[in-house]
Amino acid sequence: MILGSSDMGELIVTVATESDRAAFLSSVDGLFHEDLQIHDPYGDPEWAARGGDAYFTALLDDLDAVPLIARDGDAVLGHLVGRVMEPDVLRPGTKVASLESIRVAPPARGSGVGGRLVAAFFAWARERGAVRAGVTAYAANEGAQRFYARHGFAPSSVSLRAPL
Ligand SMILES: CC(C)(COP(=O)(O)OP(=O)(O)OC[C@H]1O[C@@H](n2cnc3c(N)ncnc32)[C@H](O)[C@@H]1OP(=O)(O)O)[C@@H](O)C(=O)NCCC(=O)NCCS
Repeated sequence: MILGSSDMGELIVTVATESDRAAFLSSVDGLFHEDLQIHDPYGDPEWAARGGDAYFTALLDDLDAVPLIARDGDAVLGHLVGRVMEPDVLRPGTKVASLESIRVAPPARGSGVGGRLVAAFFAWARERGAVRAGVTAYAANEGAQRFYARHGFAPSSVSLRAPL
């Protein structure tokens, strides 16, 4: 399924399928190494190598989640994982969506690939009745926060930590 084409080149965003497994896992692995590894001393940067396969398999079977891939021809330039949550006791009657993971390959950054992934995620979430999207970023990841702000995300809550 093509969720959107781009002004730039042949960029397309599609829902990932089994044939995208290796490229998807490679992108998730890259994210863990440049984000979690840098920003959380207790995080396991090798998580994708251990749990990525099962994670991707579960995503393919989950109607409330979507693994998206951005590609230019055969080259996979990035991924995004989105999810919609059913209403809960705190928000009766309201579905919200979560941007769980996003990464664009370094050489492709700054040319709109991430923006195309977010636009496709928003469209997918709206189609499923979600009225709001949320995302979590490390406070030190200022580039990601700038990127999210450009796509309409505003700060909502703050998570705090104390060393023990
Ligand atoms: C955040 C990210 C997905 C944006 O993808 P992208 O394709 O570069 O985004 P776009 O081209 O659509 O938009 C560019 C905007 O992204 C932001 N950005 C963040 N990191 C960037 C980078 N390394 N290079 C270029 N832009 C970056 C900037 O706000 C930029 O806007 P600006 O030109 O005003 O500075 C990408 O930079 C990335 O993969 N970063 C590393 C992984 C990461 O931090 N993921 C989010 C975890 S919460």
